[in-house]
This record gives sequence, C-alpha cells and structure tokens, in this order.
Amino acid sequence: MEATGERVFIFDTTLRDGEQSPGASMNPDEKLRIARQLEKMGVDIIEAGFPVASDGDFASVQQIAREIRGCQIAALARANAVDIERAWEAIASAAAPRIHTFISSSDIHLKYQLRKTRAEVLKEAVAAVAHACGYTKNVEFSPMDATRSDRGYLCEMVEAVIAVGATTVNIPDTVGYAIPEEFGDLIATLFSRVPNIRQAVISVHCHNDLGLATANALAAVKNGARQVECTINGIGERAGNSAMEEVVMAVKTRKDLFGLHTGIKTEYIHQASRLLTQITGITVQPNKAIVGANAFAHESGIHQDGLIKEKITYEIMTPQSVGISDTHIVLGKHSGRHAIANRLKEMGYALTDAEINKIFVRFKELADIKKEVFDEDLEAIVYEESSRHEEKYRFLYLNVVSGNAAVPTATMQMEVDGQMVQEAGFGVGPVDATFAAIRKITKTNYPLLKFAVNAITGGTDAQGEVTVQLKFDGRSAVGRGAHPDILVASAKAYINALNRLEWLSKDIKKVKVA
Ligand code: KIV
Ligand code: ZN
Repeated sequence: MEATGERVFIFDTTLRDGEQSPGASMNPDEKLRIARQLEKMGVDIIEAGFPVASDGDFASVQQIAREIRGCQIAALARANAVDIERAWEAIASAAAPRIHTFISSSDIHLKYQLRKTRAEVLKEAVAAVAHACGYTKNVEFSPMDATRSDRGYLCEMVEAVIAVGATTVNIPDTVGYAIPEEFGDLIATLFSRVPNIRQAVISVHCHNDLGLATANALAAVKNGARQVECTINGIGERAGNSAMEEVVMAVKTRKDLFGLHTGIKTEYIHQASRLLTQITGITVQPNKAIVGANAFAHESGIHQDGLIKEKITYEIMTPQSVGISDTHIVLGKHSGRHAIANRLKEMGYALTDAEINKIFVRFKELADIKKEVFDEDLEAIVYEESSRHEEKYRFLYLNVVSGNAAVPTATMQMEVDGQMVQEAGFGVGPVDATFAAIRKITKTNYPLLKFAVNAITGGTDAQGEVTVQLKFDGRSAVGRGAHPDILVASAKAYINALNRLEWLSKDIKKVKVA
C-alpha cells in the first residue's frame, strides 16, 4: 500500500461496542475468528471486550490477548480499581496490551447518572489513569459523552489525564449528537487549548444516531485526530459506530484531501464484512457504502455507457480494492480439490489441508445438487465447518410433507449430546412443522424473534440462507443455515441459534456500558 503522510491508527471495537448491537452476541470462538481477520487486515488496536462485564467476556479477551500477536489488544474498564485490575488481568499476556478506561464528562451524565460533582469526577479520572499506568504505559482514556460536555471542563480533564500518563485520549460522541463541522471544531479546540495535547494521540469514537458517525470521524481526522475507533459494517450500540470500511476507504480514496494513510489492507474488507454477517446474522443493507451488495452495481444506462468507455467516469474505487473478486471461474461438480483450494486461497482463507478436505467433501455434496457453486456458497460452507465444534445439537435428517391438501408434517433426526433422537412435528406450514419437531427433540420453547430467508446467489437452484433469532432471558441469539433446500437451511439455522443460546446462557453479563 502506498503510505502517504501520517498514519491514522485504526482501533477496531467490533468485539466490544459492536457486540453491544442487539442480537450481536458472539461466543469466544467467534470472537477469535473476527480478531484473526482484524489482525490479517492490519488493524492497529483491537478492543477485545470489557472483561469485568462477565466471566465469558474476561475469558474471551484473555484468549485473544494470548493468540493475536500482531495488534495491540485493548480491554475496556470503568474508572475504578476493580475494573482496571480485571482488564489488566485479561490482557497482561498480550504482545502489546492497552487499558482503555472511561468516565463521563458531561453535566447531564454527572447530574443524572453518576450523581457526582465535576471535581469528584475529575479526581476519579486522574486516579484511574494513574492506576492503569501502574500496569502499562499504553493507557487510553475516554471522557464519555464528550460532545455534550462543557468545553472548558473537557479541556481540563484531557490535560489532567495526559499529565498523569494517558498516551491516547479518545473523544466519544457517545449519543451521536455531533455535526461534522462542530465536531471538527471541538478537536481543533482541544489542540489549541490543552497545552500537553501533543503528548497523546487524539482519538475519536462516533455513534451513528444521526447518520453522521463516519462524517464526524473524518472531520476530526481533518483537525488532527490520529486514531479512529470503528467497527466492521458499522455495527454497535443503537445505530452503531463509524464503519471501518468507510473511514479507511475515505482516507485512501481522498488522500489528495487528507494526505494521510491507514495500515489497513483494504482487499480484506469484503471478507471481514461477510464473516461478521455470517457470525452475527446482522445483514448489511444493499445500498450500504463499500460493503453493500449494490455498492459497485451500476444500473443506469448512462453510467454503464460511461464505465465501458472509461471506469473513472463513475467509479471512485475499484471493487477489487475492497476484495470483491473479478474472477468468474465457475466451480461445479467437475472441479477438483486443487481448484477449490486455489479459490479459497484467492478469497483470503488460510486453511489447513484437513480443513480443505472437509470443505471439499461439502463442496462435492453441494455441486451434486447445484450446477454452479459461487464464492458465496463456498463462504457459507467455510462458515458452517468452522463453527462446528462444541455443538450440543446437530442436524442429521429432515423429511417434510406439505401442500394445500396435507397437514404439514416434519420428521426430524438430530444428535443431542451425541445421542440420536427422532421426532415428528406438525404446523401451519412446513417451516412451522420443522421448528415444532426441533422444539420437541430439544425440549426447548424459546420465542422466535426473527425468521428470514435470502437467496445467497441468483437462480432457482441458489442456496437459501436462513436467519433465525431466538429470545432467551432478555437476550437473543442469532443462528444461520444455508442449503439449496430452504427447509433444511431453516432447520440448520434454528439448531445453530440453539447452540449459540447454550453458550449465552452460561455467560451472564454483570455490567453493560452505555
Ligand atoms: O460511546 C462511548 O462513549 C463508548 C465509550 C466507552 C468509549 O463506547
Ligand atoms: Zn460507544
């Protein structure tokens, strides 16, 4: 990548703020897979989680800290000794650990949530940073709700935490309230009014409540911020965070304007987006910038005409630059193992021989029933194969009878804790009957929040990709399944959601961040 000007550090919080998206809970194995992808992409800092929140969060942050050696690993902590100690315990073994501590700075939060004075909160912020600096020199501080804070008080707090050792100060637009010009001005004000500001990297963390998260982050970068906190696909609390792919591609595409660079290998963006969608079940809107299905689709005749003549007429970046492949080699039942291994490699997967063998068997099964196998089909197989361990429930067999003159009936075989179980279920339709059979076998009855079917690719032989969301104890788990038969895909998705609920039910969150 051509490195122009200073670097903007990319701090990815998909695993922390991103995981706060409703329904986005991930298990430790899934978080590790995302972390590996982030490492591969060249993310500078991964915020792996909030260790004090639950034992599951702690274990997952610790695992990422041990296994991901190519990025800094940050852990979030409120500004108190218990949180900071727990955060440090989780990341101490990282190659480059970072403690990220925060406390609110706005009068609204101080009055209604913390019920403390400005002086008390300032003292706690300073004490927290000093405490964290006792463990590591790599300490980040965030004054939460910074954009609704008194500017004088905010400057005082930023100066004080830098004085005791904060090496990064992050300015969050916690409630997504800021407007780009105003947010840029806030960053400029900090640079002009805080005497020691250049001893720290100034970071920003923007929420998307007004649809301005990326615009605000870029306005901040234009005014001196050199770290952006963001998430893949822009997931996160409420309307989400700045989307990593948008920030990175804006800095890259408009280097004439910014004169900066990031360390992101942009050709992995598409893969990261798909991986997150597969894991969380949160799909990307088709017109989403950079990673939406239509982001590079040109429909208008005038545009198509221009593109044929010269791409630059209507294309500001190439699909290949974000990892959308331009190869159209069709894989089918005559394709050999070598062709599949090659294609997977081109798609960015680093798989062992044993993994490729398993995927190849699944590919052959699919190619027997589907003429052409596309990248998206392969992705779905890779996802299923890589999320296959520690499953309580497994799909074995499904037979469904339905039609307008029959009572829809599903006969289903599953493995439950290694034992084969068979049951029949009835319903108002074939999906309802299938789910009834699963509920009987698993002796569960969780409310169904969502059931959605998508075709992975075009054509009537396309694989159906089903998303199922189940509710459990005020939380929810999303499951996904893919198969050319949408009833089989539905059963697989339901079973996947049940397996994920199994993990969630063991990890009780004690604390939530605002
Ligand atoms: O939005 C926010 O303020 C946060 C902080 C914890 C940085 O997520
Ligand atoms: Zn946030």
